[in-house]
Amino acid sequence: MVNLLENPLRVGLQQQGMAEPQIIVIFGASGDLTWRKLVPALYKLRRERRIPPETTIVGVARRDWSHEYFREQMRKGMEEAHSDVPLEEMWESFSQGLFYSSGNIDHPESYQKLNTLLSELDEKRGTRGNRMFYLSVAPKFFPEAIKQLGAAGMIKDPYKHRLVIEKPFGRDLASAQSLNRVVQKVCKEDQVYRIDHYLGKETVQNLLVFRFANAIFEPLWNRQFVDHVQITVAETVGVEDRAGYYETSGALRDMLQNHLMQLFCLTAMEAPNSMDADSIRTEKVKVLQATQLANVQNLASSSIRGQYSAGWMKGEQVPGYRTEPGVDPNSVNPTFVAMKFAVNNWRWQGVPFYLRTGKRMPKKVSEISIHFREVPSRMFQSAAQQRSANVLAMRMQPNEGISLRFDVKMPGGDFRTRSVDMDFSYGSFGIEAKSDAYDRLFLDCMMGDQTLFTRGDEVEAAWQVVTPALSAWDAPADPKIVPQYEAGTWGPVEAEFLINQDGRRWRRL
Ligand code: BG6
Repeated sequence: MVNLLENPLRVGLQQQGMAEPQIIVIFGASGDLTWRKLVPALYKLRRERRIPPETTIVGVARRDWSHEYFREQMRKGMEEAHSDVPLEEMWESFSQGLFYSSGNIDHPESYQKLNTLLSELDEKRGTRGNRMFYLSVAPKFFPEAIKQLGAAGMIKDPYKHRLVIEKPFGRDLASAQSLNRVVQKVCKEDQVYRIDHYLGKETVQNLLVFRFANAIFEPLWNRQFVDHVQITVAETVGVEDRAGYYETSGALRDMLQNHLMQLFCLTAMEAPNSMDADSIRTEKVKVLQATQLANVQNLASSSIRGQYSAGWMKGEQVPGYRTEPGVDPNSVNPTFVAMKFAVNNWRWQGVPFYLRTGKRMPKKVSEISIHFREVPSRMFQSAAQQRSANVLAMRMQPNEGISLRFDVKMPGGDFRTRSVDMDFSYGSFGIEAKSDAYDRLFLDCMMGDQTLFTRGDEVEAAWQVVTPALSAWDAPADPKIVPQYEAGTWGPVEAEFLINQDGRRWRRL
């Protein structure tokens, strides 16, 4: 039997664990993501000596900053967002590898200037012409940045140049296709790393190990034994200060089409031939192609949207979405979505997948639960005999772990039954399971491993699945028709109907 986890290339890379010296060029370097996540992730990798000392970071943005000012900003960011990380140790030498180049995304001169700096840095820091271009700019600038990089001849070497694109990749199928065409004109798919930070989470990666490194689950992982699957990604935060972006995005584009779809794919896909990037991504595309909203003719029975209204979170009153700063008071943009999908293939025919995500929910929790069929016999029917179907729950965050629910007999003379959980917690390893996603993604990208990045056809297939709901919800609508839910609750009542209509309920989390 083939052992999927023994891909020599991957094992080799992981053991070796060190990337080639290279320059990481971050477009949009004055934005939050750079100081909050990207530079801290690179610093972490450097402290762990997983990237070489020659690693160089060049921030690009419009503001007229000096190298020194950029370094100060990044240091402040570290102190603010990662106060637990000691800087003394290595910050000084790390920060000498930080540079800044001001420029405009649509000015060819900015790219020439950048290119000159990069060549100088190659000489000075020994980065050997290796480049990673990381687009952390507003999505509307992606096509222009890619075209300009192409025109300046900066990403033409398939071995030395990589392009990293933050989400969202397009805002619907047509725009994703068009962005893919722009990308394909200037570089090869092998050079492209489309980020979905959920794939960087340990527990998400563990789905592959859990499913394919254990022999006992696979025989049960199908329509014969599974009744339905639920995927919940709930957040307690509201729109925060991101209304400008969120108003053009909403829960379906911001979360479901990418993060939840990735969780769905890893749960529902077939076993890949091997653990290499293309085998895994091909299986994800195949399952997406077999998936559609459960009832496209009657959309309301398979897709629900909602918006949070004013409510209470941890004893504090919070405003409703429409009164948040920067949000249109008549906005119909969803902050919650729940959908029921059908997967029309041999494994899953007739097994519904219920997905939901929302902001301002009572808890931050991400979980996939596999609900098995009930036992066929009616042996244990009395009131004292609680019967519940077996549930396998995989907690992505927080309290990362896995639990299996089953019934046991209560001690005593009669046959009283009770459901109990057998629980594995990642915490028991004594090390943190949730590396901050971006460090893993950077490292993989630097080492040329695309497994945890989405392929062009995969992004398109995911857009395709949600297109009927997007088209319906993008049409102008009376704000009154968008269901409201009080902040601090589990979404609008319509989301309960979505699952109750099938005689099922959302799992209590
Ligand atoms: C981002 C979304 O991709 O993921 C945010 O844009 C969301 O709206 C965030 O809050 C959630 O990520 P995590 O890792 O906190 O679950």
